[in-house]
Amino acid sequence: MSDNNVLLEIKDLRTYFYLDDGVLKAVDGVSFDIRRNSVLGIVGESGCGKSITARSILRIVPPPGKVEGEILFHDNGKTVDLAKLPRHGDDIRAIRGRDIAMIFQEPMSAFSPVHTIGNQIMEAVLVHEQVEKAEARGRAVELLRQVGISMPESRVDNYPHEMSGGMLQRAMIAMALALRPKILIADEPTTALDVTIQAQILRLMKNLKEDIGMSIIFITHDLGVIANMADDVAVMYLGRVVEYGTVRQIFRNPKHPYTQALLKSIPMIGKERGGKLASIEGTVPVPINPPRQCGFADRCAEFIAGRCDADVPPLLEVEPGHLVRCVLYENETEAV
Ligand SMILES: Nc1ncnc2c1ncn2[C@@H]1O[C@H](COP(=O)(O)OP(=O)(O)OP(=O)(O)O)[C@@H](O)[C@H]1O
Ligand SMILES: [Mg+2]
Repeated sequence: MSDNNVLLEIKDLRTYFYLDDGVLKAVDGVSFDIRRNSVLGIVGESGCGKSITARSILRIVPPPGKVEGEILFHDNGKTVDLAKLPRHGDDIRAIRGRDIAMIFQEPMSAFSPVHTIGNQIMEAVLVHEQVEKAEARGRAVELLRQVGISMPESRVDNYPHEMSGGMLQRAMIAMALALRPKILIADEPTTALDVTIQAQILRLMKNLKEDIGMSIIFITHDLGVIANMADDVAVMYLGRVVEYGTVRQIFRNPKHPYTQALLKSIPMIGKERGGKLASIEGTVPVPINPPRQCGFADRCAEFIAGRCDADVPPLLEVEPGHLVRCVLYENETEAV
């Protein structure tokens, strides 16, 4: 273990789907650490493997997906490799929810349709605390209020199908927070919400992080949210982390051509309004039987034939803690 401030250590994570057409490498050799009481932002375009990375940690990748590599959870002086636990076993089930909770991109998948929202949040509260039911209910109401649901005293008795998508999204956030997890994985948690509610929820998560010392893995397309929330950033492209560093390193000194293109694609405050938003040419391919090369090679403005398409570029440390998977920096740095 690198240092005891690390709560979760992901090493060479590979999540492949074995399909009839070939092997779809959704996550292909991802490594990163989650430090205690800190926020790791994961960014990248649609299809680059963000959700599958999150699902791999909780071991909820649907078949025919298989998880390999190491997912080391360091807790109470013990280390458990989540990648090695049986997928349906008691050990991972105890960790899911209690230690590591997830807010999903699709809120319906988090709730059972046959119980009320309130009962499901109360269940989460009762897992942790020896409190009376009435108190657990009060807590559920309070959480619903905190995520911006109006009339929470009556909403608490709604079934999932009685809520709108945005409301359900907020209820799911309330349920995940009720568990007071050590790690909260938030997968695009606020995209469906309007900006004021979004700001309120981001603030709530930040406060909770301080109050209970929670760590957060925050997945989003939105670099503005990353700048506001994250301490460290992993930029993903086609199943790999192509750049990793502190929020300052990534925003002030982006090195990978993909990161640079992503940053250019966001409208900057203070820049001329109404101009055309630069977007990255091309789309993320589906990585079925991908060639051994840089995943971004086909879209990269700085592509070098015979190098970028010759092998997967090494991960290079361009400054302390700032890692880039790109051959452009090969001569100035050492591989890690
Ligand atoms: N159940 C599945 N079976 C087969 N392939 C899958 C499955 N789920 C995801 N994939 C593939 O894995 C790759 C990564 O998908 P993932 O959902 O992790 O992307 P993402 O970065 O979360 O994208 P988005 O921003 O759209 O949510 C994609 O190529 C996707 O098509
Ligand atoms: Mg996703």
